[in-house]
Amino acid sequence: MGQRRIRTVFSILLEKSVRIGYKFRIRAGGHPKGDQVKKIGIKGTGSCVPERVVPNSYFEKIVDTSDEWIVTRTGIRARRMIEPGQALSDLATSASERALEMAEVSPEELDLIVIGTSTADMLSPSAGCIVQHRLGAKKAVAFDVNAGCPGFIYGLAVAQKFMQDGSCRKALVVGGEIVSNRLDFKDRTTCVLFGDGAGATILVQSNGAENGEILAMDIESDGDLWNLINVPGGGSRIPPSHEMLERGLQYVKMQGNEVFKQAVRTLVDSAQKIMTQQGITSEEIDWFIPHQANIRIMQVVAERLGIPMEKVIINVHKYGNTSAASIPVAMDEAVRNGQIHRGDLILASSFGAGLTWGAALIRY
Ligand code: UT7
Repeated sequence: MGQRRIRTVFSILLEKSVRIGYKFRIRAGGHPKGDQVKKIGIKGTGSCVPERVVPNSYFEKIVDTSDEWIVTRTGIRARRMIEPGQALSDLATSASERALEMAEVSPEELDLIVIGTSTADMLSPSAGCIVQHRLGAKKAVAFDVNAGCPGFIYGLAVAQKFMQDGSCRKALVVGGEIVSNRLDFKDRTTCVLFGDGAGATILVQSNGAENGEILAMDIESDGDLWNLINVPGGGSRIPPSHEMLERGLQYVKMQGNEVFKQAVRTLVDSAQKIMTQQGITSEEIDWFIPHQANIRIMQVVAERLGIPMEKVIINVHKYGNTSAASIPVAMDEAVRNGQIHRGDLILASSFGAGLTWGAALIRY
């Protein structure tokens, strides 16, 4: 009888403390004071690509292709690939360190780490947690966003939401991918297209001037088109097995032609949506950073948006399609080589496996 009463008192106390803890967590989470939406800007950028350069000539030796076909159909001349033993977090951590250094933010100050990737070091835990560990970002909450090539744009949108209400003050958003070990080097329709890399940005609360402002974001998806780009094996539907490996189901499968059409449609729609929403015309855009998948896609999209090619940031010739890394790597290079200046208006848009797509309008 006495024991039961002790247990009852204990469970009431436990229940209360859980409730109090929950309340505290919500408060610590920081509901917006009033309804004030904070401005969020990019304070620093960083990137990292593997040292190994793989030129088109490499593929001439292993599949029925030519440098001429690859250059004229895609614009790609080379790509970077990791060495055996390297993994996503190696590139993502280096890119993050560079971005932190530029932003003069220490890892301990980060509240949030979001990594846009579908090629984390392992199936579990997330690349976010590995990068958190490697940076020593003790205070941050870390996770991944698996959204194919627009993973960085999705990550930016998620981080912006967490920061706009004041829940987080400083965030690291990375887009990174190791596609090289998901490629079937017997399939000429995919193996020539992709490369590895990672790009990072540090987001901070901004007054809109010093660190610019993310003016608008759009993220969208259409799961009906999941079959256009996928890696069928290694997940829960087709777990790893000898048969899976023999059938090559661990590799990227893509219906390139159909993806091309969807890419043009989605990149244009998404970019136009946020420009219209902000009342921005194409003449006002200083730099357009499209997903670096194919120079022909970029040319068609830029033309439809009315943006001249001189304003398009391009690195597909050096790195191929680095999936979620392509926009942040291009952005970081353009910041560091003096193309992008503070105050410039940047339009970025991307599409990829899902199908997913999205765009960002950023006052840098
Ligand atoms: O991040 C999102 C991921 N994906 C993309 O962005 C991909 C979007 N799509 C594309 O970039 C283009 O569709 C590709 C580059 C993939 C292909 O270019 P395409 O001009 O659409 O070529 P295609 O698929 O219509 O193929 C034309 C020909 C075919 O031969 P036949 O059937 O005409 O005899 C292909 O078999 O080119 C052949 N082909 C190749 N030939 C030499 C396909 N790949 C190669 C190759 N080398 N690597």
